[in-house]
Amino acid sequence: MIRAAVRTADLGHGAEIVGILDGFSGLLERRFQPLTAAGVRELIRMGGTVLGTTNRDNPFACADPARGPGPVDRSGEVVENARRAGLDAAIVIGGDGTLKIAAELGRRGLPVVGVPKTIDNDLASTDYTFGFWTAIGVATDALDRLRDTAESHHRIMILEVMGRSAGWIALHAGMAGAADAILIPEIPYLLESVAATVVRCRERGRHSSLVVLAEGAAPRGGKASVYYVDPVTGAQRLGGASDRLVRDLERLTGCDVRATVLGHLQRGGSPAPFDRILGTRFGVRAVELAMAGRFGRMVRLADGRIEDADLDEAVREIKRIDPGSELVRTARSVGISFGDEEPA
Ligand code: F6P
Repeated sequence: MIRAAVRTADLGHGAEIVGILDGFSGLLERRFQPLTAAGVRELIRMGGTVLGTTNRDNPFACADPARGPGPVDRSGEVVENARRAGLDAAIVIGGDGTLKIAAELGRRGLPVVGVPKTIDNDLASTDYTFGFWTAIGVATDALDRLRDTAESHHRIMILEVMGRSAGWIALHAGMAGAADAILIPEIPYLLESVAATVVRCRERGRHSSLVVLAEGAAPRGGKASVYYVDPVTGAQRLGGASDRLVRDLERLTGCDVRATVLGHLQRGGSPAPFDRILGTRFGVRAVELAMAGRFGRMVRLADGRIEDADLDEAVREIKRIDPGSELVRTARSVGISFGDEEPA
């Protein structure tokens, strides 16, 4: 995405792109890096970002012990620093937290264009965020590998994937990896139903089962498993969903159950071809919007076409899976359980 933006600005518009290091904190501390078309040539095959990033810093709520115990609003400094640096536009790349901040900074005078980038695919207004299909590739590969041990050791294997309160990664990887059950936040599961799926596999002569579990999934009437709550911001870090499921499934089925938490492996590595192309298309459109002075917009993929949407609208609420959607129905048609079927 950065490569595409820099090359489009340079080759197509004679404009200069400056990288801001480590997200909004780079704007607060005025840490910039000039970017050139030659310098970004190799980026297309690299994961992560050469500019550095953070999903913790929020200029509207900065920890600043010098100014007192509570969070401090430094958004005015961000807008002012951008103006002083002579920036005509800020292209902000990130997930819903980052883009919400961008939308708010836009209202305070920062000319912003948003680009949806998260493995979670949970941003409204776009069919896909870039990074998502790379994560699906990693998770699908993990399932293929887990299947080998599941079958040779006659085990139930659980793969816990990321996605926060949306189950897009679990649903897509579970379908691609032919899981027996997919447990997602949007469809609370019944433990007895998941156990029944596993037992049914055994009755049909199979000695293994694969369960894909979204980190934010929860049993019916229960809550997502939270590992840590930030004392200042209240932000939750999810974790522990698969530990809970291992214990419960072993107790109910008497089977050997193991869990793998895929974690940050989903976020790294060489981007999938789809993400490379999507990032390129997003980058080009973001620069076009900035050059045209069309701020407060987010680039998006809609029915295969690159368009743009109102940024406020795009971040109003996150995109979650509709349990009645074609994708869920398709998965059910091929025998995948969502753990919500009443056990016989
Ligand atoms: O939002 C992207 C994401 O990878 C989530 O799927 C996950 O819950 C979270 O980030 C993990 O964040 P951190 O790297 O801060 O643990």
